[in-house]
Amino acid sequence: MQHDKLALIADVHGNLPALRAVIGDAKSRGATRWLLLGDYITDFPYPNEVAELLQTLENAVIIRGNKEERYANMRGENPDWLALEQMAPARWNLRELTDANADYLFGLPDTAEFEFGGERVYATHSIREICPLASKVREVNSSRWYRDKMFEKPFSRSEYPAIANAAIDASPTVTAQISALPRGVYAFGHNHIQQHFRRGDTLLVNPGSCGFATDFAIGAPYTMLTAANGEIRVEELRVAYDIDALIDTLKKSTLYVAASIWCETVARTIQTGADLVGHFLHHAQDVGAMLGDTDYPVSDATWRRAWATWVDPTVGNNGTFA
Ligand SMILES: [Fe+2]
Repeated sequence: MQHDKLALIADVHGNLPALRAVIGDAKSRGATRWLLLGDYITDFPYPNEVAELLQTLENAVIIRGNKEERYANMRGENPDWLALEQMAPARWNLRELTDANADYLFGLPDTAEFEFGGERVYATHSIREICPLASKVREVNSSRWYRDKMFEKPFSRSEYPAIANAAIDASPTVTAQISALPRGVYAFGHNHIQQHFRRGDTLLVNPGSCGFATDFAIGAPYTMLTAANGEIRVEELRVAYDIDALIDTLKKSTLYVAASIWCETVARTIQTGADLVGHFLHHAQDVGAMLGDTDYPVSDATWRRAWATWVDPTVGNNGTFA
């Protein structure tokens, strides 16, 4: 008997080779349906190709992420701060996207609900949009939390679920909020950490970032849900793709010309799996505070100063984490 299989994919961030690899792998495993969870563009030079590939998927539910929401607002308003160097990737993407692809991506819905395997699926880019527990769940599962824990005491992907579960259980507020949710499957992205956990009849699942993984593992993650015998089985998968070739293309692209500092942190992020874009952005804010520049995005002077003073925290470890 053929089972119904739903492939969950999130946070592509313009990484066409990763998206292609994941779609190919999911098809080979018999995916019958697709759920795409937002953030399709920004960090890699394929915004149109990603938008067009999404539109070829059949039986797909596709929602937008915070990137598409923000770009939609910028497109209409063209604010002054969009001229800052920190915003160069946004300017580049807005310029490169065809009108048809921009209309498609920015016009996607923010949430979706549907049935799968006899359960209600609630889809949103960031889980905080659906239920108030989200901010707490994010706190213990965010890229920053994961990265800082990893720097404190490195752990492997197989050790992570126990660590994340213990962090959730240690918070009575989070536990109570999860218990209060209506039964169902809550699918979200945004945190760039592949994870899933169950509490009673509730399944929470984040397939990780297909194009921009920050869980210290290399490759493109996605999650397959299989409906069989009245249950939903969860498989966390990760597909290899040619990261060196992608970085080579990135560094030869006009995106790199427009946003070289950003692209350098992007390249290091996909090489190490550490959220180095986030790490650098926090450093830039700290440098801004030191210089009395508290605006965000930061000024170009702060951005340059931050790049000159930033220490890549993975270098001390040679960038190698299991
Ligand atoms: Fe994202």
